[in-house]
Amino acid sequence: MGIVDEDVKRVRDQTDIVQLITQHTQLKKNGRQWMGLCPFHGEKSPSFSVNHEKGLYYCFGCQTSGDVIDFVRQMEHLDFAGSVEYLASRANIPLRYTDKNETQKRGRRKELLESVQKAVDFYHDRLLRHPDGRAARDYLRERGYDSEVARQFSLGWAPEGWDNLAKHLNISADDMQDAGLGGLSKRGTKYDFFRERIVFPIFDERGDAVGFGGRKLPDGEGPKYKNTSDAAKVYSKSRVLYGLNWAKTEAGKLDEIIVCEGYTDVIGFHLAGIERAVATCGTAMTPDHARKLKLFASRVVLAYDADGAGQAAAERVYAWEEEFGLQFAVADLPEGSDPGDMARNDPEGLRRAVEHAKPFLAFRIDRELARGDLSTVEGRARAGEAAVGLVAEHPNALVRDQYLVSIADQCGLDAGQLRRRMENKPVAKTPLADSPVVSTTRQVTTERQALRLLMHRPSEVAAFLSPVLFADPTMRLAYEALAEYEDLHEARAALEGEAADVLSQVAVDDATDDDPLGVVCRLLALAAVQAAVMLEGEVRRGADMASLLPDITYLRRQAIELREVPNDMADLAPALQWFGIGVTGE
Ligand code: CTP
Ligand code: MN
Repeated sequence: MGIVDEDVKRVRDQTDIVQLITQHTQLKKNGRQWMGLCPFHGEKSPSFSVNHEKGLYYCFGCQTSGDVIDFVRQMEHLDFAGSVEYLASRANIPLRYTDKNETQKRGRRKELLESVQKAVDFYHDRLLRHPDGRAARDYLRERGYDSEVARQFSLGWAPEGWDNLAKHLNISADDMQDAGLGGLSKRGTKYDFFRERIVFPIFDERGDAVGFGGRKLPDGEGPKYKNTSDAAKVYSKSRVLYGLNWAKTEAGKLDEIIVCEGYTDVIGFHLAGIERAVATCGTAMTPDHARKLKLFASRVVLAYDADGAGQAAAERVYAWEEEFGLQFAVADLPEGSDPGDMARNDPEGLRRAVEHAKPFLAFRIDRELARGDLSTVEGRARAGEAAVGLVAEHPNALVRDQYLVSIADQCGLDAGQLRRRMENKPVAKTPLADSPVVSTTRQVTTERQALRLLMHRPSEVAAFLSPVLFADPTMRLAYEALAEYEDLHEARAALEGEAADVLSQVAVDDATDDDPLGVVCRLLALAAVQAAVMLEGEVRRGADMASLLPDITYLRRQAIELREVPNDMADLAPALQWFGIGVTGE
């Protein structure tokens, strides 16, 4: 669902970033920047900074950054297209989509969503007011759901009979089908998909009803739950998260979201005073779910019943932690009880379980050890070894080792021996950044100064910079994008994560006081040391010393000479040339 690039650009250019952000926090002009309290984290003194001209913001406190579209994404929890649409409608800019049928598709979607909403209203009314909703009302009341709860969650009753809804809506069989509400029978008559079931309307994160979960009454027929079919055009079970529309505010505030199994669990959490709970609908969590969760919070608490959580595939959890920047924790619920039950029997216990949720691996280890018999030597060895098997699945060596030490402690085993056992286990699949940080602070600072000079005073430095002068991988990526694209927003779009953040950060920096000559000189000095170290390494590994020695000597000498900043950029020409940076042409 792409929006034409040109229109995205128009939306970005025509949105006044200062005006947009002042709707959420007060900004005051301070030199070239606007400053205010960060709308994304609580703070008492302003560290949120906006560059009006470049259309970027950066918070020195929580490091969030971006342009007007990013701001809307973060503030309204919308995806990219949704954010552009939000800004476009605000500025009255019509949007074109890359797919020519998109406009038509969107019209169709709107139509179907209207039908779903009408169905929500129809079922809801049957539950609350109609005589045939009696049994359902009684059942819900017995479960502790009064009419206020029914209203809060728009619960409904799909009555007995083949086509009550179809008659009420009076839309085509195709429309019934595409909206997931029914279809055409073999006899050529329209029928309802939900019959004799309590329905839980499912809303998307914007609050549009997209489908239903239908629960039978205790003496009803068929499976306990029937959910809207994936054949419906507005519903996809691998993406939708029940309750997200109600959960998103609290989730965003606490940067934590709870995932449970069912509709009644989400409602239970609300009754226990916890709003940040969502449920997958009749499916295990998918990568699309994980990606969506990350839009709202970075910590995910799994609140399945005890066995369910243990069964969440460890491999996928670690892969998602890595891929989406999520952390998974597990709420330790008593065996055999789900949040829906606990909300009634022990709401305080439910709140405690969430509050004390353990990191995913810690939870699994604790369970393994609890299962073992730690009272005998053999039992401790067995439990320790089993737990180490779980640790081995974690992709980060530093994390693994800390858990290993704690297991050794708890089982009275020697950590060194356990470590050797673990090393013999199959290695974790996802390679994680265990690698040491190569760059020093001084270096990063200099590289950042170079970037902000390039951004704010390009004519003075562009000719003297090159990727080889940037040792820090993130800084180098940021440099390359900035050098390649004329437009700052295009440069940011070409980058991801940290590197994109660096550019926004640098955009709100002030480069007035930077000294281009000094910065290039320091960069060169650091690059010279790095290059020398690298060549020395080659010599140690057997490269021909005689041929490399002149370069090594030259670089070492440069590193010393460059400690003093020369009078003129021209004095740096030889060293720059060594790095392949030509400065003669002008
Ligand atoms: N589910 C489903 N189809 C089924 C059973 C379950 O899609 N036949 C899904 C539903 O989304 C349900 C969730 O799995 O909400 C959890 O199932 P279960 O624990 O059996 O139901 P609860 O939500 O606990 O419902 P209740 O409290 O009414 O038993
Ligand atoms: Mn359940």
